[in-house]
Amino acid sequence: MEKQELKHFENQNLRTFGRRHGKKLSNRKQWLMDNLLPEITPKSDDLAQKPAILEIGFGNGEHLRDLALANPDKIIVGAEPFANGVAALMSSIANESDNVLMNEYKNIRVFPDDVRLMLNDLQNINFDEIWVLHPDPWPKARHEKRRLLNHDFLNLLSKHIQNGGKIIIGTDHWEYYDWIVEQLKQTSLKIKSTNLDIIKTRYQLKNKAGTTNPKYLVLSL
Ligand SMILES: C[S@@+](CC[C@H](N)C(=O)[O-])C[C@H]1O[C@@H](n2cnc3c(N)ncnc32)[C@H](O)[C@@H]1O
Repeated sequence: MEKQELKHFENQNLRTFGRRHGKKLSNRKQWLMDNLLPEITPKSDDLAQKPAILEIGFGNGEHLRDLALANPDKIIVGAEPFANGVAALMSSIANESDNVLMNEYKNIRVFPDDVRLMLNDLQNINFDEIWVLHPDPWPKARHEKRRLLNHDFLNLLSKHIQNGGKIIIGTDHWEYYDWIVEQLKQTSLKIKSTNLDIIKTRYQLKNKAGTTNPKYLVLSL
């Protein structure tokens, strides 16, 4: 499976994420990955019927959970290839007593892999909002080609937003921010706003870039 995926990336796109696995999962988390995760993978029939929001690279899923609570009538889809992040989300949305999905998170769906594979499968599905908070900055020049938010990917995302839909991007890596703004010139997307209250995610709190604040882009067609 891993080999097949890598082959896919060699042919089409480079890998944009770091690790797929971290430390060994606890028994409970492994159980949730084996049993709960398959029940909440995104399905096109389901998504065709209800408005939906997508978060790409949700990390441990704190912001994904906020989206689920704030939008109970929408389906919230998260894509994340890092298994430990997916497992952390699973653990926080299932009751500890019986491992059943908590009622308030019943609208969450999870794709545990590269979002580009999911979007390939869900070609006719559009989202009200697409969030990308703190995409891996790949700061070294030789890694720049691994940056997710290149113009090809932004063009792909623009095919998956509803009329009036938004793409919301946040990063504390200001050089990556400027790079994304340059990439936008090769798309039809327009910057609608750059003013957003700071969204506290796990990565934002680490502030690896050492900047004073994250910068945001709200894009639409
Ligand atoms: C720097 S972390 C930020 C995590 C989280 N958004 C936060 O702010 O705490 C970037 C995340 O994007 C994920 N990622 C990278 N490429 C991706 C892709 N092609 N599809 C989905 N997720 C991806 C990585 O696995 C990683 O968890």
